Amino acid sequence: MSKAQATSADSAPSHNQLDTKAQAWSALFSEPMSDLVKRYTSSVFFDKRLWQADIAGSLAHAEMLAAQGIISPEDHASIQRGMAQIKEEIESGAFEWKLDLEDVHLNIEARLTQLVGNAGKRLHTGRSRNDQVATDVRLWLRGEIDLIGDLLKELQVSLVDVAEQNVEVILPGFTHLQVAQPVSFGHHMLAYVEMFKRDAERMADVRRRTNVLPLGSAALAGTTYPLDRERVAKTLGMDGVCQNSLDAVSDRDFAIEFTAAASLCMVHVSRLSEELIIWMSQNFGFIKIADRFTTGSSIMPQKKNPDVPELARGKTGRVVGHLMGLITLMKGQPLAYNKDNQEDKEPLFDTVDTLKDTLRIFAEMVGGQLNPATGKKEGGITVNAQAMEQAALKGYATATDLADYLVKKGLPFRDAHETVAHAVKAATSHNCDLSELPLNVLQGFHPAIEKDVYECLSLRGSLNARNTLGGTAPAQVRAQLARHRARLA
Ligand code: ARG
Repeated sequence: MSKAQATSADSAPSHNQLDTKAQAWSALFSEPMSDLVKRYTSSVFFDKRLWQADIAGSLAHAEMLAAQGIISPEDHASIQRGMAQIKEEIESGAFEWKLDLEDVHLNIEARLTQLVGNAGKRLHTGRSRNDQVATDVRLWLRGEIDLIGDLLKELQVSLVDVAEQNVEVILPGFTHLQVAQPVSFGHHMLAYVEMFKRDAERMADVRRRTNVLPLGSAALAGTTYPLDRERVAKTLGMDGVCQNSLDAVSDRDFAIEFTAAASLCMVHVSRLSEELIIWMSQNFGFIKIADRFTTGSSIMPQKKNPDVPELARGKTGRVVGHLMGLITLMKGQPLAYNKDNQEDKEPLFDTVDTLKDTLRIFAEMVGGQLNPATGKKEGGITVNAQAMEQAALKGYATATDLADYLVKKGLPFRDAHETVAHAVKAATSHNCDLSELPLNVLQGFHPAIEKDVYECLSLRGSLNARNTLGGTAPAQVRAQLARHRARLA
């Protein structure tokens, strides 16, 4: 494009501005779209959510066009002025979104042209909606990933708080949902901290590949204008520029991997939910969650139902469904852009909304809410240490400890295992715990058993003995707590 053409003084709105979508490419079209097809093909009522990213992308593009001499400084100034007004209009609700204009991009561009005339029409120089939408989605998602990172941190802090208060509280650890070995409740909480830590790492990793600029790829093949793509990337705070125009406009792998990371995170929330639901049932009575996260029943007056964890478990299916939707959307698409990709937005938006709400609510439900008067968090989960410990006493949780005891006395582990099975059988028939069997009875199972056996048969002895790195001994749990505190500070 020559400079003369770019700078011609023609800023008054002209007659053929984009009032309806048909006019965006009208000369070729002999009939208007039916209302049904318009509704079917338009995305504005959901993709208007991208408006901030769309304006930011356009401003960065216009700034670069001006710096490269592709548009005049006057046109650049007009675009800036028009966009500032559009921003105000959208924020105040005065902006009129038109179905006829299909999507957020055409709506904003049409209004810009209405406001500043030909300068608005020059904005799209060297650009296509294909690289524009890919840029918008990436910019928007980058911001959301950052918010999700903050929420994941808050949730981890809540779990660390609960862990810290419950290092010495003993929970029956389960395998197969059968009592297995005693564990520190703090240790159990820190297991979830590890999961959410990895989720945060996955999000940060997705961000790296999301924060790369497609703009400048134009429709699919690049453009004939001397664009400075690196400059646009820098303006937008992006880490780099997509290196292949066909790939840049067409792949949505960043959205898919985000949804995969979100699905895993929801799966972790769902596992926690399942435990909360079990623990707060009358048969366990291990914990309570604050009333504001529960609901009553319309028929059974005694009920307090764990609706929030149940819904989180349910919403996990929804997010995993979005992952399936997006990955299937991509499959079978030839290069480069296809309209299929317009279907990326609703699943992506809903994934973000669902994940953010869930993390926010869990951080509060687990850790409580800050009371400004006391400076302390209140209203998190309440732990019934006694009920947990009683339950741990029930299922022969220290049977492995007795086997280990015999191994230390020289028995091969398999023989010790068999010996203890007999002891457990006897205790079961006496309806008592292993620690309640008299010494002479225990010695009947193996003569190597001595009085010191009772130390290892106690829950606390069992806990303290698991003092390997990553084990449940309180000393180990405290070391892990310190590590997480330092990391989350
Ligand atoms: N609304 C479209 C989308 O979401 C924008 C890109 C349209 N490009 C096109 N060539 N029709 O993907």
